[in-house]
Amino acid sequence: MPSTCPDRPCPTTGNNTDPGQRLRGRCLSPSQSETSMTIRRFDGTAIPKTIYSGPGCRSKMPAELDRLDAKRVLIISSTSVATKTPFLRDIQERLGERVVAVIDRVPSNLPVQAVRDAVGSAAEARPDAIVAIGGGIVHDMAKALAVMLPSGRDITEFVSRFEPPNTFHGIEVDTDPLPVLTVPTTFSAADVVAGGAVTDVESHEKLIFVHPKLTPVAVFLDAEVVASTPARILALSGMNAIHHCLEASYSKGAQPITDAFAFAALRQLLTVLPTFGPQGPAPALDIVQRAIDAASMSGLTYANSWLGIGHSVCHSLGGRFGLSHSAANAVMVLNSLRFNLEVAGDRIAAAARASGVSDAPDDATAAQAMIAAVEAVSDAIGAPKRLSEIGLEKGQSAVITEDVLGDPQTFWNPRPPVTAEIVAWLDDAW
Ligand SMILES: [Fe+2]
Repeated sequence: MPSTCPDRPCPTTGNNTDPGQRLRGRCLSPSQSETSMTIRRFDGTAIPKTIYSGPGCRSKMPAELDRLDAKRVLIISSTSVATKTPFLRDIQERLGERVVAVIDRVPSNLPVQAVRDAVGSAAEARPDAIVAIGGGIVHDMAKALAVMLPSGRDITEFVSRFEPPNTFHGIEVDTDPLPVLTVPTTFSAADVVAGGAVTDVESHEKLIFVHPKLTPVAVFLDAEVVASTPARILALSGMNAIHHCLEASYSKGAQPITDAFAFAALRQLLTVLPTFGPQGPAPALDIVQRAIDAASMSGLTYANSWLGIGHSVCHSLGGRFGLSHSAANAVMVLNSLRFNLEVAGDRIAAAARASGVSDAPDDATAAQAMIAAVEAVSDAIGAPKRLSEIGLEKGQSAVITEDVLGDPQTFWNPRPPVTAEIVAWLDDAW
């Protein structure tokens, strides 16, 4: 059941109300929390043990499975990977008799029922490892099955929530999930992060499940595979990765190590993403490799820092309105920056300086330069900038705000969530 700390119940207060006064996995006692120093902990268990990078690196997968002593592999891929690329078959052939089952259909925004249905067939195959090849929902499905199969519990029992004004309800994972190995085909970063999202189609809620134990054990950042995805899809998913870097940099969970990942990833993404625009030839393989490396680094960042209210909006747009996470992020990244500019201008300015966007000494100028740089990328790839452009009907701000106020990412946003302010912000974004 969900507990009231990010990882387990608080032994003292029963709540976790200030991320600056928490250690991951436990809450500090009141006397400890009175210190004026902020204590932060980087949790290495939320980072994949092994990350391969380079065109063709999927060839290392059999050796990784040997290392894990995995003999029965369940492969999960999307329909498009299965039917429009050679890579599902390629990986099946490399793994040979180890493959005991294949799921090659994962519906968008991943309904809870789709995960429950998959558990039935997956359980019969008795896998001891899961290989996921695809975009974000494929990796989300893999991680959901990885915890559901050995625990016998439903994914809805592993969901984190935010409770206004400032309480975070985390989860405990008291089982050892199956090892997950991932091969991304987009810049979603779901291939590295310790959890995912499923959609409750009755309540229209996007449910977020996150725990360090759900971190994939091996990741294969293979530009040959990524390059098989249409450039338009890659470009929009790249805006999702930029949004990760920025929200992570001003999240209340940010710290020097997550900053290092965020700023390095941001520098790369701002440089290479414009080449994924509609003009000109397809990006060269080395550019695709730089982009997927940076995108996954954006996930290493938020595996520890979490994100912010912009992602909460994207979760509502996906769960309630069926909009794609990439398109939603393409719109929300600029809106998130503007929403938080007043309270996090110094952090946005720090991101601008560290990613090479500005060397202005004053924060206001540097932060504006960051917004301009993201806008330039958005223009270069022809990304939508308004919610109306991605198919959201007018007048939805109030219901999205309700969703946002329950989403765990809202807890980490630097600007406190005030209902009327969020509604006005979303009206502006429409
Ligand atoms: Fe995202």
